[in-house]
Amino acid sequence: MTRFIALASVLGALAVSGLAHPFSGDAVARKRQLDHHIGNATSYTPSGVGACGVTISPDQFAVALAPDFFTASSSCSENLTVTNANTGVTKYALVLDECDSCTGQNLELTVPLYEALGGSLSHEPLEVIWY
Ligand SMILES: *[C@@H]1O[C@H](CO)[C@@H](O)[C@H](O)[C@H]1NC(C)=O
Ligand SMILES: *[C@@H]1O[C@H](CO)[C@@H](O)[C@H](O)[C@H]1NC(C)=O
Repeated sequence: MTRFIALASVLGALAVSGLAHPFSGDAVARKRQLDHHIGNATSYTPSGVGACGVTISPDQFAVALAPDFFTASSSCSENLTVTNANTGVTKYALVLDECDSCTGQNLELTVPLYEALGGSLSHEPLEVIWY
């Protein structure tokens, strides 16, 4: 129940922020906001060049998308909005990699991003809403 309320308030906040800036978002951004996904995020430490062809530092915020969602030509450098489904904490990070082992809408996040969202490395995964 608590979790449901947290999720509802996150989605409500997203809807309100959409209304608060009626002219700032283009249609593509709004469509992406509606097409939000819910998945489990785990942390990972990138080792060098990711699937987008750029070096990812373990210290930076970056996201690796599951194969179902990763297309190099359109996903790379996409600025993803990732929200902790339990707390509403939201961070932005670029898609720089593909997570071969991720299924469905699950994601891998670099350690600093995972922790900034409130994830604990000793208690994975972290449920997130992303778009
Ligand atoms: C997310 O992880 C939880 C706990 O491990 C699990 O019960 C749930 O089925 C997972 N959800 C998805 C979409 O994999
Ligand atoms: C991603 O989007 C957020 C929210 O609009 C913005 O604050 C941030 O600067 C963007 N990041 C990049 C790298 O474009």
